[in-house]
Amino acid sequence: MARYGGKVIIFARVLSVVVLFAINRSSSGAEPPKPVYYPNRINFTNDPKPFAVRVTKFVCTKTPYERTNLLLCKTVLRRNQPTVVHIKLHVPMVLNEIYFKLDTYYRYNEYRSFPVTLHTEVCAYFRNPSDDPMSRQAMSMALETMPQYMHYCPHGNTTYVMDYWLEEKFFPKSLPAGDFRFDVWLHDRDNQTLFSYQTFFSVRRRGVLKSLIEW
Ligand SMILES: *[C@@H]1O[C@H](CO)[C@@H](O)[C@H](O)[C@H]1NC(C)=O
Ligand SMILES: *[C@@H]1O[C@H](CO)[C@@H](O)[C@H](O)[C@H]1NC(C)=O
Ligand SMILES: *[C@@H]1O[C@H](CO)[C@@H](O)[C@H](O)[C@H]1NC(C)=O
Repeated sequence: MARYGGKVIIFARVLSVVVLFAINRSSSGAEPPKPVYYPNRINFTNDPKPFAVRVTKFVCTKTPYERTNLLLCKTVLRRNQPTVVHIKLHVPMVLNEIYFKLDTYYRYNEYRSFPVTLHTEVCAYFRNPSDDPMSRQAMSMALETMPQYMHYCPHGNTTYVMDYWLEEKFFPKSLPAGDFRFDVWLHDRDNQTLFSYQTFFSVRRRGVLKSLIEW
């Protein structure tokens, strides 16, 4: 684990931002929402990866919510295709602050947390996204998967509709094998839950020889 720690942390941040952006849908105000400016994005390619990523379970948690209305949270396991999650969340109020909290777990015999906990205010992050490798990976993934949602605040005052899945092409070749669980909590400034979920997924090496070469 120590050897992989840094990579796990990078990966955790990448995934968390993607999942977060996935639920940020453009609000339908009078002015068109302004896209987040991020010129330094990565162009992902479909090169084969030495691992397979699979979401095994996705659970919406802490339901029902006080201030938002979760209309749909449905995981569909598909043979030979990525697990897809359908989410529909009505957010009646306008949001200019969205707090995002991530806790990450890696399984040995049981899930244990590893030292990645993020707690960020999203609107401020959008105004000033950083260009470090982790952020670049995350922003690039989000810009590719849901460009229409990548806009500055305000958010809310709308129903967010999202299909979410994970693809190998978004992840670095050095992604460690294992079972992961990520807990995400989106809340407002009063600590009221806007949306909360757990993602369980596994990363499996595709072949010994290939992985030896690529490590
Ligand atoms: C909420 O969205 C509606 C359109 O769906 C818009 O007319 C209204 O101005 C918005 N309200 C606020 C406070 O942004
Ligand atoms: C990304 O790369 C592919 C192939 O290398 C190319 O066809 C495509 O135009 C590129 N897209 C962007 C936005 O640079
Ligand atoms: C929100 O919860 C944290 C602990 O999780 C607490 O420190 C903070 O004071 C709470 N804020 C409000 C506004 O309740």
